[in-house]
Amino acid sequence: MGQNKFRSNDELIAFRKKHFLPTAGLYHKEPIQIVKAEGEYVWDSNGVRYLDAIGGIICISAGHNHPKIKDGIKNLLEKNMIQHTSTLYLNEQIIDAAEALLEEAPEGLDRVAFTNSGSEANELAFMAARHATGETMIVNLRHSYHGGTSAALASCGHGTWRFRAQPVANTTSAMEPYCYRCPFGKVPTSCEFECAKNVETTIQTSTHGKIAAFVAEPVMGVGGFIAPKKEYFDLVAKIVHNYGGKYISDEVQTGAGRCGQDFLLTKSLEIKADVVTMAKGFGNGAAIGAVLMKTEVAEKMAGKSYFNTFGGDPYQTLQAKLTMDIIKEDKLVENAKNMGKLITDGLTQMMKKYPIMGDVRGRGLLLGIELVKDQKTKTHASDETARFMDICKDKGLLLGKGGLMGNVVRIAPPISIKKDQVHSMLEIMDQAFAELAKG
Ligand SMILES: Cc1ncc(COP(=O)(O)O)c(C=O)c1O
Repeated sequence: MGQNKFRSNDELIAFRKKHFLPTAGLYHKEPIQIVKAEGEYVWDSNGVRYLDAIGGIICISAGHNHPKIKDGIKNLLEKNMIQHTSTLYLNEQIIDAAEALLEEAPEGLDRVAFTNSGSEANELAFMAARHATGETMIVNLRHSYHGGTSAALASCGHGTWRFRAQPVANTTSAMEPYCYRCPFGKVPTSCEFECAKNVETTIQTSTHGKIAAFVAEPVMGVGGFIAPKKEYFDLVAKIVHNYGGKYISDEVQTGAGRCGQDFLLTKSLEIKADVVTMAKGFGNGAAIGAVLMKTEVAEKMAGKSYFNTFGGDPYQTLQAKLTMDIIKEDKLVENAKNMGKLITDGLTQMMKKYPIMGDVRGRGLLLGIELVKDQKTKTHASDETARFMDICKDKGLLLGKGGLMGNVVRIAPPISIKKDQVHSMLEIMDQAFAELAKG
């Protein structure tokens, strides 16, 4: 690691324990200090290299420290170009980013706003939907996650993320479209989309009959990469629009080409969304979120002010624009599709050997493995999931975790990942499952 000296992990842990909020968790039993990154790899403070299959938390799309993004930032700083200015002045970078995003937008979504995060993007989406409809009620899904700010958290379907006295007024939850654990006890081949119909029942039973919006992730990220079928979204959008609501598609995790079809999964799944939100991989690690909106929703906001000090900052929008360029030029969406298939095929084979692997699911490079103690009872294997992640980490592979019970391994590497890296990822996971099985 060259000349750099890093504080010891113990010192950092002690500081965090004393001064951070107790809500700040760590992924591993023996946490690592990540100090360097390049492409699909990161290095810890001891110089150990890891294949990064989680990318922060699903934020690295084009690869760490991509040369084109580095050059762009260097150029901006070296030429003393404006690094920060608000949208109260004209600036080219924000337009460049907006233009590039609009090229990828589903039809009809032609208004753009930039924020600093996914939570803020959802806050803005909820506010716009409520303002446009004059209604307050937001219907969300159990097992969903839409952010840590007030309105976004109120639409979060996980008890662990909610706080005591967290206001959840004007929100209600529909049942989750979670095929592996269908809340209706059905199987996908004969379920007749009870979960979609439940959105209507929820509106009929827990609202006055009109709603402001329905919000859903095309693949439920924090929930453990739950990936409803395409048909679900069409059925739900019809219901939402029938009851006067706007459909908000939360692409904070699924966007930026990660799901291997279009830049936005809303487009690939032909979701009739009125608003799309995104963040994470959109800026390849830069703190930027975005909202795409139909003009008919946006125009209702005329006469009001929405201001966001850092939202649309040149430094962030430059990085988002360059990320979009790289994704296009390097055909990374296609790569996400191909590498995602390779991983899925490998994991499907592995399932035959390891009964702890209850379900493999997801889209593109947003893939989850749900671990269960028993295939029949589907008892959540939460401790085993943490152990599996630790074993993989010790073998040089970083993975993520999700699911209401923390029993879903999340795989979301940079979408620039190469074939040989996929093979080594699969090999490590195979060894880790074997070790886990030995106990
Ligand atoms: C689907 C989804 N929406 C919104 C958010 C909130 O984004 P942020 O943490 O950038 O505020 C997240 C974060 O994990 C997310 O997964």
